[in-house]
Amino acid sequence: MLSLSNAFDEEDLINFEKKISNFLNTKNLKNNIEYSVEPKIDGISASLTYKNNSLVLGVSRGDGVEGEIITENLKTIKSIPKKIHNKDFPKDIDIRGEVYIGKKDFEKIKDRFANARNAASGSLRQKDPNETKKIPLKFIAYTYGFTTTSSFKKQSEFLALLETWGFEVNKLNCVVKGIDNLIKNHKEFEKRRHDLDFDVDGLVYKINNIDLQKRLGFVANAPRWAIAHKFSANSSFSKILNIEVQIGRTGAITPVAKVNPVNIGGVVVSNATLHNEEEITRKDIRIGDVVKIERAGDVIPHVLSVDLKKRAENYKKFAFPKKCPSCGSKIIKDYNKNTKKFDAVQRCSSEGYKCEKIAIEKIKHFVSKEALNIEGLGKKVVEKFWELKFLKFPQDIFNLDYKKIEILEGWGSLSSLNLKEAIEKSKNIGLDKFIYSLGIRHIGQENAKLLAQYFQSKTNFSKMTKNFKFDLLSNIDGIGETQINSLKKFFSDEININVIKKLVSEMNINDIKQSKEGKLKNKTFMFTGKLIKISRAEAKSLTEQNSGKILSNVTKNLDYLVIGEKATAKKIKQANDLRVKVIKQSEWEDLLN
Ligand code: IVH
Repeated sequence: MLSLSNAFDEEDLINFEKKISNFLNTKNLKNNIEYSVEPKIDGISASLTYKNNSLVLGVSRGDGVEGEIITENLKTIKSIPKKIHNKDFPKDIDIRGEVYIGKKDFEKIKDRFANARNAASGSLRQKDPNETKKIPLKFIAYTYGFTTTSSFKKQSEFLALLETWGFEVNKLNCVVKGIDNLIKNHKEFEKRRHDLDFDVDGLVYKINNIDLQKRLGFVANAPRWAIAHKFSANSSFSKILNIEVQIGRTGAITPVAKVNPVNIGGVVVSNATLHNEEEITRKDIRIGDVVKIERAGDVIPHVLSVDLKKRAENYKKFAFPKKCPSCGSKIIKDYNKNTKKFDAVQRCSSEGYKCEKIAIEKIKHFVSKEALNIEGLGKKVVEKFWELKFLKFPQDIFNLDYKKIEILEGWGSLSSLNLKEAIEKSKNIGLDKFIYSLGIRHIGQENAKLLAQYFQSKTNFSKMTKNFKFDLLSNIDGIGETQINSLKKFFSDEININVIKKLVSEMNINDIKQSKEGKLKNKTFMFTGKLIKISRAEAKSLTEQNSGKILSNVTKNLDYLVIGEKATAKKIKQANDLRVKVIKQSEWEDLLN
């Protein structure tokens, strides 16, 4: 199940359309694209598989790849049809939508939960469906994962079909053409959002034309054809009790305001980020101040402004540390080549396992939900184990002494055994998650997936050492100079290389499966010159969708050099010398059929 990229303003929307028009190689799309506009309900997404007209499987989103089977719990929801009798209902279809609790319904049960979303998520995970039934859950359908038949050509037509099949769809869905109208509609909607009976954190825009959606496809785990246009945030006032300085996994030093707990839009907030030293100076934020705090969706709350009328004379300016508070290393600021300015964020210059705080954060990241996902090894436990010197590097989790853990306060033999099992289970991991788990700066989940696709196996990935030709990676669509520089830095550190070596020998890292039997299977391609009616990015993406592989150099491993207009003579000569087939764009299209 996918996620959506976010837009916060008109500029983000213009960029979104620009990327689309580059990908499709078309100009003047502005105000011409038709969108299905759908309220983004802040709930829990679920996938419902129907086979031969019956609901057979219901799954929660989980991490997008693997969720929990919650069929029986989902069946307790009235607005989820269990059987569908329409003749045009596909034989095999996965329908997706949002499970949520209406605001009025939540009022009746709110004492027991932090917010409506938590209540929905908790009740969907109950072991006993009778417990789920007690919570007034609703389901709104909005997309499909797969379908055997599709008679519709537009997303809006699909939404209409969903309704005829007995699903509830959002009454406020509509079709809007062009960015100007999207903005107008967003403004209108935002004014009314608080009157609705469900929590919305934005509007989802999906290109209405399904053929265009198919052409655009996906980048990592988000579609190129959709975006979420967020609403502005909720805010409230509270008093700063203290300012603490946190050191992140990548060395970033972030000041955080500890505030009197305050409820902002249904969530209790007691920490608010102050971003960096410049921000504290610019807004003149001091301990004791009453500040306005903003919270938007799942973004960390931040301090907007200070109420100077409430400031007492004795509140002192905050003194930002001059050295890394953990290891004493110099604090540095990165130079940004694009903006030609130094970043506002200050970092510990050690940026590795030599700084204790960074090392702890790296281990926390390694075991986190999106990485190894080790139940029972949360942040607090990592900190405790670090303190007790059980852990120093990620690989140490595979050599824990459970006899020592068992006797710790609050543990015992059962929980220590559970931890042992959870750790054992986590050894089995896909290459993409493994790469992500290393916590390399600028290599998040999406980039880790791209790198895993490129390297395919742990053996190939292990070739990344100091002497690797990092510039080769610039051929991966989505990996740029920033990522490459960060990888270079990471792999120039012997400790990092050693950590990877140890992990590779301890763990069972699975190769990326080329599961698809596409038309271009086992064939390698390289494009050169200007293609007609299609961008290079789309040509690459189509090749990969059909199981072909893109190479970035003419070598003897290349099967086809595809030439567009004004192709480089040098590449063609190289190909001829190596007896690589040189084909025209139309011939490549023939291969794709
Ligand atoms: S489409 C195709 N449509 O937003 C892309 N998602 O950030 C993914 N959501 O996990 C889903 N309303 O929980 C889609 N009308 C809507 C939605 C919607 C809410 C949620 C959904 C998803 C998240 C993506």
